[in-house]
Amino acid sequence: MPPKKPGTMASLWTLRNDIQHTTAHGIPNIFRARHWFRRSLWAAFVMFAFCCAIWQCMEIIMTFYSYPLHEKMRLISDSKLMFPAVTICNLNSVRHSSLKKNLALNNTFLDFCLAQRWNSTGYPGAARDATRCASSFSKFASEFNRLSDEEKLDMGHQLEDMLIFCSFHGEPCNTSFFSGFINYKFGNCYTFNSRMRTDLRGRSIISEPLNTTKAGFIYGLHLELFIQQIEYVRDITHSAGIRLLVHNHLATPFPEDEGVNIPPGTETDIGITKVVIRRLKHPYGSNCTDGEGIPNFYHDLYGFKYTREACKRSCAQQSIMKHCGCSHWEFAVPPGLQYPKCNFSSPATRRCLELYEYKFAQDILPCHCPLQCKEELYSLTVSGSQWPATAFLDKFSSNLRDKGGQLRAIADIPQDMRDNMLKVVVYYQKLNYEDISEEPSITDIDLFSSVGGLVGLWVGISLCTLAEFLELAVNVVLIVAHACLSGSSQGPASPGPMASREGPPI
Ligand SMILES: *[C@@H]1O[C@H](CO)[C@@H](O)[C@H](O)[C@H]1NC(C)=O
Ligand SMILES: *[C@@H]1O[C@H](CO)[C@@H](O)[C@H](O)[C@H]1NC(C)=O
Ligand SMILES: *[C@@H]1O[C@H](CO)[C@@H](O)[C@H](O)[C@H]1NC(C)=O
Ligand SMILES: *[C@@H]1O[C@H](CO)[C@@H](O)[C@H](O)[C@H]1NC(C)=O
Ligand SMILES: *[C@@H]1O[C@H](CO)[C@@H](O)[C@H](O)[C@H]1NC(C)=O
Ligand SMILES: *[C@@H]1O[C@H](CO)[C@@H](O)[C@H](O)[C@H]1NC(C)=O
Repeated sequence: MPPKKPGTMASLWTLRNDIQHTTAHGIPNIFRARHWFRRSLWAAFVMFAFCCAIWQCMEIIMTFYSYPLHEKMRLISDSKLMFPAVTICNLNSVRHSSLKKNLALNNTFLDFCLAQRWNSTGYPGAARDATRCASSFSKFASEFNRLSDEEKLDMGHQLEDMLIFCSFHGEPCNTSFFSGFINYKFGNCYTFNSRMRTDLRGRSIISEPLNTTKAGFIYGLHLELFIQQIEYVRDITHSAGIRLLVHNHLATPFPEDEGVNIPPGTETDIGITKVVIRRLKHPYGSNCTDGEGIPNFYHDLYGFKYTREACKRSCAQQSIMKHCGCSHWEFAVPPGLQYPKCNFSSPATRRCLELYEYKFAQDILPCHCPLQCKEELYSLTVSGSQWPATAFLDKFSSNLRDKGGQLRAIADIPQDMRDNMLKVVVYYQKLNYEDISEEPSITDIDLFSSVGGLVGLWVGISLCTLAEFLELAVNVVLIVAHACLSGSSQGPASPGPMASREGPPI
């Protein structure tokens, strides 16, 4: 919108007018001031404010790009909570009776190891003996690993023998609620509410997720277990009971590293509280991942979700496969990869394994294993009491006699019952859970409003002011264009700035 008679001077006057009346406070004041001193003071102040605004905006923008975060904790109440998966493993991995049939396995035990145990610190060579004991277990684990899954399964404790009584939320349950897996240290482990479709032997099981609609002891999972101490192998198991883990059904359970031990002769009550942790992905500091593109053999084998522990173990297995040429018994083997199982008796393999076990223990393998983005933890409150109580013994022993088999044999002697039977109850203490999530400290909108606020505070510039400056720029362009046009229409005879003063250009 060019003015009707825009001589260059007139145009410059409009520009000056524009600047004087800009809504960026401060600038008009420079023009308004009459005295040069005031004018320069105003100019200096405007410059100063401008620098401050730029400096503080830079600070804010730099903070934003360092991606700060904070943690927010909420307590969420729910009328219904999914019951977690509960994994139980007998502390003894193979049954003594089945061991007798397997000569190779029987020969791996070093009696020596047991005899010297109690004396292991007080004589020269103690350290060497401790190493021999550790490698005695490795030798056993390596031999055990060579068996087929079917054989391993048969050698361990059977859920059918162990589970005497089961109830959940007041309803009876049975072995068809349990799936399982084979662990190198504890043999057969059984998982309640795992939501897998089949159990260890491939029979279909109840896979519907189980919910809790009431907190408290009676609405929990009640298990009575027979741990079969008569089947314990003294060379591999020095304590009796079961290992119990409470975990999300998609998280890989590692009974050798997690969980609590439940002793026989007790009723152990485990109150659980759920905690959900959510982390932010890159570029935020925790760099969490959902596991895409990261090898996770536990997912390939069992369908478990990504966790950092599963990643570390998969990575260790990969290193061992690559450098030792065989698969370690301690870690999952991906289906379809044809590697022989490690033979601990061969010296070269043994040295290689020991090196990589050391590296795994020291966490110096070159693994990229970020934390998982969503994690569900269960904090346990464990308490115990004697079980069965003396007054209840008679009734209990007659119950056991009715069941027959090995149970009949222990039913007569109270000490035998207390050595072999245990009860465990797992229940939600309350139906609310803690949700701890990471949140960005500065969002895009926060950044925008902070910068806007700072600029407004120091130099009084808003978006509308920016639009004014844009208009100013357009005006300048127009004026320059006019000047050039009128200059060329006057011809080469009257060049220079004087020309535009003389007449209307258009
Ligand atoms: C198994 O080993 C033990 C000693 O470690 C021995 O007494 C027993 O006879 C062996 N059993 C068989 C079947 O070889
Ligand atoms: C401990 O071991 C040493 C050497 O083997 C032996 O002389 C000593 O009697 C042992 N002590 C006990 C208490 O068994
Ligand atoms: C286990 O319980 C389910 C339902 O509660 C029942 O259908 C099934 O027959 C039971 N299985 C055995 C082996 O008792
Ligand atoms: C538990 O809740 C889930 C979803 O809320 C539902 O799909 C499932 O059927 C429930 N389980 C039972 C046993 O009702
Ligand atoms: C997160 O990832 C970035 C690059 O992907 C890396 O520079 C940074 O060190 C990682 N931070 C952590 C805590 O792993
Ligand atoms: C394991 O290694 C030992 C020693 O090298 C050897 O005697 C044994 O036959 C090997 N076992 C198998 C199953 O290859």
